[in-house]
Amino acid sequence: LKILFISSEVEGFSKTGGLADVAKALPLELRNMGHEVVIITPFYRTIEHRESAQQIHQLHLKTDNARPDIPFAVQELSLDGIKVLAIDNAHYFDRSGLYGEENNAYADNGERFAFFGIAALLTSIAEDFSPDIVHCNDWHTGLVPYLLKARFHSNTHFTDTKTVLTSHNSAYQGIFEKSQLNLIPEVSSCMDDRVLESYSYINFLKVGVIYADKINTVSPNYASELLTTLGSHGMSDHFIERIHDFEGILNGCDYNDWSPETDKLIPYHFDSNDLSGKEKCKKALQQEVGLQVNDTPIFGMVCRLTDQKGFALIIPILERFLRHNVQLVIVGSGDPAITGHLTALAAHYSDNFKFINGYSNELSHLIEAGSDFFLMPSIFEPCGLNQLYSLAYGTLPIVRAVGGLKDTVIDYDQDPDNANGFMFYEPSANELLNILRRALLLYIEHPEEMLRLKTQAMRSHFYWSDSAKHYERLYHSALHIRPQWE
Ligand code: ADP
Ligand code: GLC
Repeated sequence: LKILFISSEVEGFSKTGGLADVAKALPLELRNMGHEVVIITPFYRTIEHRESAQQIHQLHLKTDNARPDIPFAVQELSLDGIKVLAIDNAHYFDRSGLYGEENNAYADNGERFAFFGIAALLTSIAEDFSPDIVHCNDWHTGLVPYLLKARFHSNTHFTDTKTVLTSHNSAYQGIFEKSQLNLIPEVSSCMDDRVLESYSYINFLKVGVIYADKINTVSPNYASELLTTLGSHGMSDHFIERIHDFEGILNGCDYNDWSPETDKLIPYHFDSNDLSGKEKCKKALQQEVGLQVNDTPIFGMVCRLTDQKGFALIIPILERFLRHNVQLVIVGSGDPAITGHLTALAAHYSDNFKFINGYSNELSHLIEAGSDFFLMPSIFEPCGLNQLYSLAYGTLPIVRAVGGLKDTVIDYDQDPDNANGFMFYEPSANELLNILRRALLLYIEHPEEMLRLKTQAMRSHFYWSDSAKHYERLYHSALHIRPQWE
């Protein structure tokens, strides 16, 4: 199949979270299965490998007669041989952040990503690439299925094209005022209330869910949560309406980047038969972040600092937890309120708690390799990749039973024989503290069980090749249906 994969971030070029990891691993796997994949992404100022980009097109977006055309260039990059076409418009993308700066979203994100969606389709035409499937990701690309109908339906490039939308996180919906859509008259003057709510607002994700031929999210359990009022961020009616075209496909773990046997970012290597390298990585981690180098159990956490990741459960019990003989390392950036709490606590418990406020790929690998436990008490979690990385490195994930965490972690108390981590249910700080203490007890009193669990964790596998086969089936089913708008 010919697949146009559109994503606002791609690992190796730009990244704020797990979307980037998926937008690298999935296209590579699809290519390895024999499909022809082209990736389209914005040419941000911060894009890595900028110097190797080749400008291949100079294009224009025509808006309406009242406004000047918007010029943009297309820069070609390569992801292990896959063509990556980056949309280059200085006004929209030559900025220091991807979506905002210092935790404030850019005010014109609606306009930026409306532009990106159209520019992606114009690029496909300029490339003479007629895709069978346009694979959209998250709200940033939510207008694309509608644009194909409203603007490009008679374009011969897209005659047989079908669309798939993957929602990696349905909490982010992209809700903007109509005024941001002036560059697309088909939207700004749209009389369909499902596109332009009350004729004044647009919800990019909702439009994508309505108009894509097939929709999926990134774990089966999150897919079922999205059909409920409680778990759907207000979107359940729309997902229920599309229930026959909607499913959950679990993300994989990219073992090329995340394998303790080959990881170039960790100082010692190990595998499930010999964990001595992991012990050395633990010492290297302690040294790196300035903790005492000893056998104290070490808990790690790497994430965006947002409410999603469970800080409302962590912060109230952190002091009680840190009074135990434990070490804790958190690396993350984001919400200033969370940053403030963590900074203050780290100053007070400087002996056993290190908080690194920032983004560090190197440190994230060292934390995965060197920790005994990994903390992920999310309030909701569409899939979660860090628990998969933790499993690969024999670092036992401590998770809440939501979304993809529930699909990938087996709790020690519930199923000791097959367990690969710890899981709690209620979104309560005390429940979190209880499970942290259970994990601690196991570490102190049953080192042989700890070793068995670590080994078992390392033998749980989540291959991208399995996920990619599911996507292939989804594409095929999209191609057999008639487009929604006929
Ligand atoms: P989400 O997509 O919700 O942020 P995931 O667990 O799916 O959560 O993926 C997060 C990805 O972003 C992982 O690859 C993780 O290592 C990375 N990441 C998040 N925050 C940081 C950080 N501060 N430093 C380094 N990597 C980070
Ligand atoms: C989102 C989700 C995360 C998921 C990632 C990749 O950012 O928050 O759970 O793993 O996308 O699909």
